[in-house]
Amino acid sequence: MKQDVNFDEQAVPGRQQTSSLRGPVTETIVQQFSMPVEYPVVFTHGLFDPGNSALCDVVRRYEPDKRHRLFVVLDDGVAQAIPDLTTRLAAYAAAHESHLELLTVELVQGGEAVKNQADHVDNLLERMLALAVDRHSYVMAIGGGAVLDLVGYAAAICHRGIRLLRVPTTVLAQNDSGVGVKNGVNALGVKNFVGTFAPPFAVLNDFAFIESLQHRDKIAGMAEAVKVALIRDGAFFTWLEANAKDLARFEPQAMAYMIRRCAELHLRHIGTGGDPFEQGSARPLDYGHWSAHKLEGLSNHDLRHGEAVAIGMAMDAHYAVLMDMLSEIEGQRICRLLETLGFRLWHDTLEMTAENGEVAVMDGLREFQEHLGGELTITLIAAIGQGVEVHHIDAVTMLAARDWLRERSATP
Ligand SMILES: NC(=O)c1ccc[n+]([C@@H]2O[C@H](COP(=O)([O-])OP(=O)(O)OC[C@H]3O[C@@H](n4cnc5c(N)ncnc54)[C@H](O)[C@@H]3O)[C@@H](O)[C@H]2O)c1
Ligand SMILES: [Zn+2]
Repeated sequence: MKQDVNFDEQAVPGRQQTSSLRGPVTETIVQQFSMPVEYPVVFTHGLFDPGNSALCDVVRRYEPDKRHRLFVVLDDGVAQAIPDLTTRLAAYAAAHESHLELLTVELVQGGEAVKNQADHVDNLLERMLALAVDRHSYVMAIGGGAVLDLVGYAAAICHRGIRLLRVPTTVLAQNDSGVGVKNGVNALGVKNFVGTFAPPFAVLNDFAFIESLQHRDKIAGMAEAVKVALIRDGAFFTWLEANAKDLARFEPQAMAYMIRRCAELHLRHIGTGGDPFEQGSARPLDYGHWSAHKLEGLSNHDLRHGEAVAIGMAMDAHYAVLMDMLSEIEGQRICRLLETLGFRLWHDTLEMTAENGEVAVMDGLREFQEHLGGELTITLIAAIGQGVEVHHIDAVTMLAARDWLRERSATP
C-alpha cells in the first residue's frame, strides 16, 4: 500500500537522559509516526461482469500499469449457491488480462466451522507459499463473515501482510463485519481468540450475492442495522421502522439502502470514533453483543450471530427500561421492529444453567470484559439513536428483563 509516512523529528517528544552518580545511564528515544489508513468500500451490482471495472479499478489504484496477481479464496457455500461463479471470475480476469492474473480459486468451507480448525489457516499459508504470493499480490476473499475473518487473518500474517480484497456475500458481512478492520479465528475454545487489526486494501460489496442467501441469513444480518441505528442514528431507525415490511420481504431496493447506510455508519464509527483498533475498554458497536456472543456458543451456533444479537438488544433494551434509563415506549418500538423484521426474541439457551449453578448467559459479561481487558463497559440505549456506557450491570434486573422476553415470546 502506498502511503505517506510522517516522521517529524521535531515533534518527537525526545531523547531523555537520566543519570545518577552510581547507576548506568538510561536513554530513551520515543519513536512516533502516523500512517493514514484509507480503503475504498465499493457498492455495486454484477462485480464480475466483464464490463464492470470496479474490481480492476481498485486493484490498479496505486500501480495502474502493472499486471496484478490475484489469489482467490471462495466460500464453498457461495460456490454451491452460484455454481458458475468460478467460470465468471476466470472470464473477468481474461477480459482484464492486461491488469489481472488470476492465480487460482481455492475453495474453503463456509460458516463458523472454518474458524474452529487451525489447519485451515495452515492450508492457506501453504497455498500462498506455493503460489509465491507476496506483499504486492492480492488475496481476494469471497464469502460470509467467517471466511472473510479466516482469510483476512491468513493474509495479515503471511509475509506480515498481503493486500486483502474482501468481497462479502452475506447481509452481515456487507453491512458490518466485512467493512471493518478486524479478522480472526477461534482458538483454545475461545471465539476470535487469535486475530489481528488489519485494514483491507478494498471492500467490494455486490448486492447480487444477497439473493442466493437463505432467508434466515438475510434476516439475521439486519440486526446490525438496527444496532447501529440504535446507538448512532435515530433517523435511520425511523427509516427501518417505515420500511420494515419491505425489508422482511427482502425487497431489493430497501435491502440495498439498509446495507449501504449501515455500512456507512459502521465505517464512520471506526474512522472517527477515536479508537479504530479498540485500545480502550468501550466497544459501542457491540451493543447487545455481550449476551449474543454467549448465546451463540451456548446454542452450539444453532443461533446465527444476528439472531443472537437481536435477542441481546431486546434484553438490554428492556433492562434499560427497568433501570429507568429508556422510556417504555422506545423499548417497545425496538422489540416491535425486530419482530417485524422476522426475529424471534427468545431462545431456550437464555435459561441454561452453568456448572456453578449460575444462569449461563450471565457469564457473557465476564467474557466480554476479558476479550477487551480493562473496566467492564457495556453500551446501553438512553434513547433511540443514543448509546450510553455503563460499567455495572445489575444481574437481578437483567434476569427480570430476560423473564420479560420469555413471557413476551409466549404471548401470541
Ligand atoms: N471481523 C469482524 O469485525 C466481525 C464482526 C462481526 C462478525 N464477524 C464474524 O462473522 C461471522 C458470521 O458471518 P456471516 O453472518 O456472514 O455468516 P457465515 O460466514 O457464517 O455464513 C453463513 C452461511 O452462509 C453461506 N453463504 C455465504 N454467502 C452466501 C451466499 N451469497 N449465498 C448462499 N450462501 C452463502 C456460508 O457458506 C455459510 O454456510 C462470525 O464468525 C463472526 O464472528 C466478524
Ligand atoms: Zn455483530
